[in-house]
Amino acid sequence: MIIVSGPASQKLGRRIAELLKQKFVPIEFKRFPDGESYIRFSGEVENEDVVIVQTTSPPQNENLVQLLLMADTAKELKAKTITAVVPYFAYARQDQRFRPGEAFSVKTIATLLQTCGVSKIFTVNSHNPAILKTLQVPIEDLSAIPLLAEHFRNQGFEGAFSLALGKKGLATAVEADKVLEGGYGYISTKRDRITGKVTIEEKPLPVKGKAAIVFDDIISSGGTMVKAVAWTRKQGARTVHVACVHPLLIGDAENRIIQSGADSIVGTDSVPSHISVVSVAPLIAEALGKRGAKR
Ligand code: R5P
Repeated sequence: MIIVSGPASQKLGRRIAELLKQKFVPIEFKRFPDGESYIRFSGEVENEDVVIVQTTSPPQNENLVQLLLMADTAKELKAKTITAVVPYFAYARQDQRFRPGEAFSVKTIATLLQTCGVSKIFTVNSHNPAILKTLQVPIEDLSAIPLLAEHFRNQGFEGAFSLALGKKGLATAVEADKVLEGGYGYISTKRDRITGKVTIEEKPLPVKGKAAIVFDDIISSGGTMVKAVAWTRKQGARTVHVACVHPLLIGDAENRIIQSGADSIVGTDSVPSHISVVSVAPLIAEALGKRGAKR
């Protein structure tokens, strides 16, 4: 197996290669003045099981094109197999045709990857893992929630109350609670199908006097988390911390969340940022190791 890091996940790819003690092949990359991407493998890939690590956080279209260029090039260079590790899987939130005529974007992206020779995809806390299972290319979604919860446990937050966003997210709070063991629940949410705007349903939360941690997969504009933190505070939580897998942190999202009453925000290196203090490398290395052992 050889590990190739795309421009968007250079450190993560290297960490995975180190953990697996596998060969790391760097990618030579440049951006032309008009914005187009150039990539070149600076090592042999022929007859190898090639693992390409490239997250597709913003600029997602550029990162996706680079991923496609890498996969198709590995195919042309006669790689034995091509696995794509895409911790943040762009377009995963458009996981169906909500309105007639809309693109089923996540399906299109998976089809493109498959066409470029990818036979397996690993994602991390993708928006709707059940939908991913229905697509043609095998996709395995891994969860970084236990790693985030362990981070808080190591910081002395054992016994904190774990909160997820939306009833559908409850499994996330259950996962976190297995580590923190302080009880769990969810903040009820409603999403407008046309505008995508999320509102919080102001239902009581049993957090009075407790340390609460709100877990979510993505912080994008921060709008959802701002409301969640403010409501958790209003319910009497002693402290409110925020944990997210993919810290996209668009604009002043981080600032707004802190302003709404959060004591801290932590994310993973699925999306590199200054709050990405938890690494998903061990999670991905373990999954790749299992896959290697099965071959
Ligand atoms: C929604 O389904 C996700 O779990 C996140 O809550 C959402 O994508 C966050 O977006 P924003 O930060 O823009 O509110």
